[in-house]
Amino acid sequence: MAKKVVVVGATGAVGELFIRILEERKFPVSDIKFVASERSAGKPVTFRGQTYRIEALTEKSFDGGWELGLFSIPKDMSKRFSPIAASKGVLVVDNSNAFRMEADVPLVVPEVNADDVTKAERGIIANPNCSTIGMVVGINPLHKAKRIKRLVVTTMQSVSGVGLKGIDEMLRETRAVLDKQAFQRKIFPHQMAFNVLPQIPQKDAFGANGYTSEEMKLLHETRKIMHDDTIRVTMTCTRVPVVYCHSEAINIEFEQPCTPAEARAILAKAPGVKVLDDVSRQLYPLAVDVAGKDDTYVGRIRQDESLDGNRGLNIWLVSDNLRKGAALNAVQIAEAVLAKES
Ligand SMILES: NC(=O)c1ccc[n+]([C@@H]2O[C@H](COP(=O)([O-])OP(=O)(O)OC[C@H]3O[C@@H](n4cnc5c(N)ncnc54)[C@H](OP(=O)(O)O)[C@@H]3O)[C@@H](O)[C@H]2O)c1
Repeated sequence: MAKKVVVVGATGAVGELFIRILEERKFPVSDIKFVASERSAGKPVTFRGQTYRIEALTEKSFDGGWELGLFSIPKDMSKRFSPIAASKGVLVVDNSNAFRMEADVPLVVPEVNADDVTKAERGIIANPNCSTIGMVVGINPLHKAKRIKRLVVTTMQSVSGVGLKGIDEMLRETRAVLDKQAFQRKIFPHQMAFNVLPQIPQKDAFGANGYTSEEMKLLHETRKIMHDDTIRVTMTCTRVPVVYCHSEAINIEFEQPCTPAEARAILAKAPGVKVLDDVSRQLYPLAVDVAGKDDTYVGRIRQDESLDGNRGLNIWLVSDNLRKGAALNAVQIAEAVLAKES
């Protein structure tokens, strides 16, 4: 059944993609409106050939029988406005980390736990963190077949993970460095151009244990989505001067033996996964190739020879953080809701 949809944060990196993905996937829409901050009010947006005007977000934005809210705004704004929208009958799919770990808010990656969409007691479903979404799409099929005991993950996350302002700052800084010009940074805590930062997010990143909040999300969200609190996860999240796509080097320890050939066969049949793994032709997933793609790509599948009995693998995984890591996954959640209703 077609829905009355509100896109909240429609001018952002994720919000702009919501609009394109609703079009691409022919999501059934009976009415739609686009909301952002006051700064953007009145700006034009095109959807299915029609021009709409951005409205400023207020408590009244959700009056009028709106049914589905695709939210992609800063966490504090989500915290405030998602419950208001839900109280007016809007089912909110929220991209921020405001509600992800709350017990009565499902955290959903449809390839893994689509059934959880029925548990949205508060009228809010959370979209997981971008690096977690890509990872669980790739590892859950292996977990189901061979039981994962432990993951050691290093992420290499693109600057679009910070939104349009992250892309803009990295590109301008790159030009400034090449031109040997001074550069005033606002977003990243250190030079981002030609550099790798072992810190995500940019501010208030580190907890008492020395891990960043991004790293702890990878642990807690993975367990919640996969419904398995026994999986051990240790991780280092880094920001790299790449515009789109997060790349992840993942070491997996299994309970049962798993060879690279078995893993390739399992992943070849897994929903949302493409295996690209032929080192004889130097074929493996690359951020520049995966950008704009819906699937999560896996390659460089090798036995971890430091473990006995073929109980470990190393894999290289790349997914588009704005598509599967954010907007696409949120639209797929909405599609899973529609499927449950029909
Ligand atoms: N980028 C990613 O890979 C990614 C992945 C997963 C989740 N997320 C989450 O998605 C959310 C948005 O991220 P983004 O990358 O799209 O950021 P972005 O490019 O900076 O866009 C932010 C959006 O939020 C709107 N906004 C900001 N302040 C607002 C306010 N006071 N009232 C109403 N709207 C406001 C902006 O509107 P204006 O243009 O009018 O300022 C814009 O539409 C964040 O919570 C982020 O953590 C991002």
